Amino acid sequence: MTTLLSTWEAPGEVAIREAIARYKAGHDLMTVIEEGLSAAELDPSLVAIGLGSLPNSDGEVELDAAIMDGRDLRAGAVCAVRGICPAIKIARKVMQKTKHVMLAGEQARRFAIEQGFQPQNLMTAENIRRYNEWRSRPEEAEKRYVHAVEEHHGDTVTMLGLQDGHFVAGSATSGLAWKKPGRVGDSPIIGAGIYADDEVGAAGATGYGEELWKGMASFRAVEGMRRGLTPQEACEETMRQIVRRQPASLDMMCVVLALGKDGSFGAACTNDVFPLWVWRDGEPTLHRFEPIAR
Ligand code: GLY
Repeated sequence: MTTLLSTWEAPGEVAIREAIARYKAGHDLMTVIEEGLSAAELDPSLVAIGLGSLPNSDGEVELDAAIMDGRDLRAGAVCAVRGICPAIKIARKVMQKTKHVMLAGEQARRFAIEQGFQPQNLMTAENIRRYNEWRSRPEEAEKRYVHAVEEHHGDTVTMLGLQDGHFVAGSATSGLAWKKPGRVGDSPIIGAGIYADDEVGAAGATGYGEELWKGMASFRAVEGMRRGLTPQEACEETMRQIVRRQPASLDMMCVVLALGKDGSFGAACTNDVFPLWVWRDGEPTLHRFEPIAR
């Protein structure tokens, strides 16, 4: 039995359709997730991930990504990488080719180039226009691209996959729009942005990275399932705990999603409706989760 999950309507659809195509072509689950996220990173129309995504306050795109193998807890991640895309492929190379879990910034970029990645300009004409809009009218730009979740086509793409008892989790993002250069959110942090353990299941996060990281959202949800909670119960428990201890998590969208050994899934979020793509066979379907009660 195979189940794939992918976050947010527009970028999640790009990712899940590519992942399904790779699955049908016979690729292993990690490649399925990697290629799904890569397709979203390479689509310049998506503003929160990869090529053409919203830059930092210096006008430079900085990417974060991570991938985790539930079989043996191996993981690879990169953070604050400039000028190379897709970051998820560099993250997988970190896992495969080094003894480390994460490489950061300029040294992650150097590693990627050593591995054969081509440097490229990730700023498109459209995101230069958005950056200039933010520079001249920051409040309007914040409303349009950061707070209006549907309008800015979503956030980090996080994917979870299950195939015959094996889990893979992956995430890719450009992080918060107009962030301080060097800022890293939850997405590339194992336990915060993603976690996968074949003993139990997988979980991921998307949204406001500072709060999701402090709450160790993904690890907390997996450990909830280890205690016998369903994926939905584990997500709700995680989000209630985050809201209780970190009320700032109500100010922006925070999401945790989880996938269990039987293919059941769940999600919980704070202040907006969260769209999640789910695929088992046939066409992927979009599920919408309401925010947890305040
Ligand atoms: N969840 C994406 C970020 O905050 O960087």
